[in-house]
Amino acid sequence: MPLQARALLPPAALIVGTGYLTTTLPSSFAVERPLHTAGVVLLVTGSILVGLGIPCVHDKHQDRPPFQHNGSRLPKLQRPYVLAILLTLPISARIGLSWWVLKHVECTGPSALPILPLLVAGYYSLDDTQDLDLDSKSRARLEEDYPATTSAPRRYILPYLLLAASGFWLTSIAALLRSTTICPVTRIWAVPRLSTLGFALDCVIVALLYALLNGRKSSKRHAFQTPPNITLLGVLLIACSGLLGVAGGVTYAIAPDHRYWILDLSSSYVQSLFALSLTIPCTLLSFLGVTSSIGFWSTLFVAALSASLTYFVQILRMVANGPWPLGYMFSLALPFALLGLAVIQHAVVSWGGEASSRRRPISRFARVCIPASFLLLLVSFGRYQRLLTRHPISVLIEMGKKQHTTWATQAHSSVTLHDAVRNYQIRYLRDPPPGFDKWYGYASSRNSVVIDDFDNIEKDLAPFWSLSPEVLRKRTAEVLVGDNGLGGISIRSGNAEVFANVPGTHRWMVDGTVDMIRPFAEHLPDMDIAMNLNDECRVAIPYTRWKEAHQVQFASRNPRSSEQTLGFSADRGSAWLNTSELTDVPAYFKVEGFNPTFQLYGSLSCPPDSPARSQYHWNTGVVCTSCSAPHSLGLFVRNWTESANPCHQPDLAYMHGLHMSPSALVGTHELIPIFSQSKAPGYADIRYPSPWNYKDKARYETDADFPDPTFVEKENTLFWRGGTTEGVSAGSGAWRGMLRQRLVHLANNPTSEQMMLLPSARDDGSFEYSLETPGLIQHSLGAKPDIHFVDKVVRCGGKDCSDQESEFTFVEGIDFKQHWRYKFLFDADGAGFSGRFIPFMQSRSLVFKSALFREWYEGRLTAWHHFVPVDLRLHDLWSILAYFGGWQDDSGRKWEGREKEANRIARQGRMWTEKVLRKEDMEIYMFRLLLELGRLTDDNRDKLGYRPS
Ligand SMILES: *[C@@H]1O[C@H](CO)[C@@H](O)[C@H](O)[C@H]1NC(C)=O
Ligand SMILES: *[C@@H]1O[C@H](CO)[C@@H](O)[C@H](O)[C@H]1NC(C)=O
Ligand SMILES: *[C@@H]1O[C@H](CO)[C@@H](O)[C@H](O)[C@H]1NC(C)=O
Repeated sequence: MPLQARALLPPAALIVGTGYLTTTLPSSFAVERPLHTAGVVLLVTGSILVGLGIPCVHDKHQDRPPFQHNGSRLPKLQRPYVLAILLTLPISARIGLSWWVLKHVECTGPSALPILPLLVAGYYSLDDTQDLDLDSKSRARLEEDYPATTSAPRRYILPYLLLAASGFWLTSIAALLRSTTICPVTRIWAVPRLSTLGFALDCVIVALLYALLNGRKSSKRHAFQTPPNITLLGVLLIACSGLLGVAGGVTYAIAPDHRYWILDLSSSYVQSLFALSLTIPCTLLSFLGVTSSIGFWSTLFVAALSASLTYFVQILRMVANGPWPLGYMFSLALPFALLGLAVIQHAVVSWGGEASSRRRPISRFARVCIPASFLLLLVSFGRYQRLLTRHPISVLIEMGKKQHTTWATQAHSSVTLHDAVRNYQIRYLRDPPPGFDKWYGYASSRNSVVIDDFDNIEKDLAPFWSLSPEVLRKRTAEVLVGDNGLGGISIRSGNAEVFANVPGTHRWMVDGTVDMIRPFAEHLPDMDIAMNLNDECRVAIPYTRWKEAHQVQFASRNPRSSEQTLGFSADRGSAWLNTSELTDVPAYFKVEGFNPTFQLYGSLSCPPDSPARSQYHWNTGVVCTSCSAPHSLGLFVRNWTESANPCHQPDLAYMHGLHMSPSALVGTHELIPIFSQSKAPGYADIRYPSPWNYKDKARYETDADFPDPTFVEKENTLFWRGGTTEGVSAGSGAWRGMLRQRLVHLANNPTSEQMMLLPSARDDGSFEYSLETPGLIQHSLGAKPDIHFVDKVVRCGGKDCSDQESEFTFVEGIDFKQHWRYKFLFDADGAGFSGRFIPFMQSRSLVFKSALFREWYEGRLTAWHHFVPVDLRLHDLWSILAYFGGWQDDSGRKWEGREKEANRIARQGRMWTEKVLRKEDMEIYMFRLLLELGRLTDDNRDKLGYRPS
């Protein structure tokens, strides 16, 4: 029989469809709103089925000779109806259950879905009556032509068993690396059980669907009904969707709190939903199409196989992305071999009965091929990763040293004003701003170590070149009208003054900034600046706008022509609008507190095809290895700058208070020059040295009760204290992903195994990744964590308050000076940057830092040379602590803590901080920033500049 291209279409569509679904679902935005998605997909699928079913059914019957057996082709009508009505219940229940389980996905284990086909096949095979109700002659003929269609499920048990084993293995491996997202104690019991219940419902649904489409179980008469009555199936799906719609409508009517949630759909969601509502019906249709030619069980096999293979490839990629326990790498050969066996076994059962002669070569082939491929895979995996002979941290410390030397050299190569000007011109392709000589004098008289590298200023101001000076001034004035959480500073004739509108609670911040400006204010041009009074950054512009802005910046750099350069314009002061005379100000800001902001702000400036914009890492229960790989070496942070870049890390959306539920994000998508103390990468705020540090709100000081002993005399402890202030968890459960909460949970009552890099038990100096239980980790670490929340839970609402209370123990607050007692200090973000970092660095302790926010001094301190970077996922924390603080467990793995190295990093950090993060350095940075801003807002900015005569 020649294969026609048309006949190949349904199987091809089925394979592509299942493959596509398997690939995209783990990162699909459609999972963001599972109920909406289910409703729409069911409706679309149902409608398509009904639409196709009505006209086609009868024509198709004509050319489908073998299965049409005398008259009994339809079951009595009411039976399918009953079945269909029965089915809406478990389907709706299943959808509701999935929704609830998805909300607590970090509490679930590996999915049991791969064993579903096996269970259903097993169930139907209990009963022999599935075979056609034919006399022996026509049966023999039928078997010859269409052997697969006539076979009972029993024959397929073995291939399905192999498939299930392989699939289950793969899903277990995928779920192996547990994230630090918290599965709350209040849910830890119920969620796994409910997800098991969901699986049971799956089984019931599939069994009933099979009965609906294929005739009722144990009814000889109606064993086959071909083609399946797709109209009925369509009606059923529409009915389920209708039920969901009704439930949604009722919720909308009686629970106004949920209206926002019901109607607020992002464009990424709508796109994914669209893709899904196309793929699922197509896949289902091709499934039904293939069913009518090779039978239900073979079709299901093909679909499951396609899904397994795609999944296998995905797991390979995941393993290739990250460090992985060696044993599990080898074990990947097993599911692959099982898949192969399953294919061969399936071929055997569907191509030949007992008598078939074709069977022998196949099974011989199988016997040779399977062990061979198994061996091949084992060997190739074995080559893939060997034991590590050097600890990655040692490598990173070495790299850090080099990086620091390079940075320090380039940051200060100028020794005269002339050099500084030349270096500026080379570096930034234009003349330094007017007043540069004053700045240079100021900086060099204060022994600034950093003279040349002010790349942070350059980067922060770059997009603003795309706006004219007039617009910049206008926007500054406009945002200072009314209460936008901004405070203004105006500089006129060398005097800095605070605008009247600053609320008392934030007065210190603006006053502190004025104090910082005062020593050099006389050299500044007249201007107004808008200061962010909130901790959270707030300016995020879309990618296209961002790109445009950067192109403009390059074009408008003033080429160093031979023309004379000018000083600041004379009458600058009057060019700034008087805020009290402005009327009709555009509303630039939107209050986004308490809501997820990653898509709306955090990743907005990323390219549309970057993972952050195109993927939704909804399975927060597992570590996203493809997200951490680009900035990691093994388990550890290799590139500190990159580690906070949102663009390659879609999972950041659920790992930080700022992205999950900030307390005061008053954001804008317009380019507005706003000074913030820190920003998350991706935001366009202009960073300036924090008055918090300048005014010593948290100070490094010691006294007789709280001395700062030398490193070796300190307690071997990793210490952190803080409040639940990173974001607001007002009933959405956002706290489970916040950095601070995850840190405290990980240190005190972790619930899942963590991967660690430890010396191997062979004691030959090599290292090995392995999964360790929380109990063993706590027991074996040389340095113990002492990490707690203080006082009581704050910034919470609804059940999130009580949930956090049952999750965490809260301890008494401490004197800030008590920190110096411990060897290792942990520094984590709060609602904004961590104000403790600089005092921590000034102490003799070693600072571990995990942060999304980046401050003005980004780059001055080098990770692994001055402090120890910890990934925002915290999956590296215990391995780092084991490296510096030691490890000893009962299975003979032992590691002396690298105390000398820890001490050295702490010392280098302390010394360098004393050089580059002094108050003078803050002034110097601010001085230069304001000169640059002065030029940017000057009508003659293209001609301004300083050149030594
Ligand atoms: C399928 O079911 C619908 C509704 O129950 C019925 O009207 C239709 O005749 C059935 N079609 C076939 C081919 O069984
Ligand atoms: C701004 O306008 C108000 C009201 O017209 C006036 O009182 C104030 O002096 C003006 N301020 C400046 C700096 O010109
Ligand atoms: C870190 O990544 C940034 C951006 O990709 C790159 O410019 C920088 O050179 C990297 N730093 C190191 C030390 O590799």
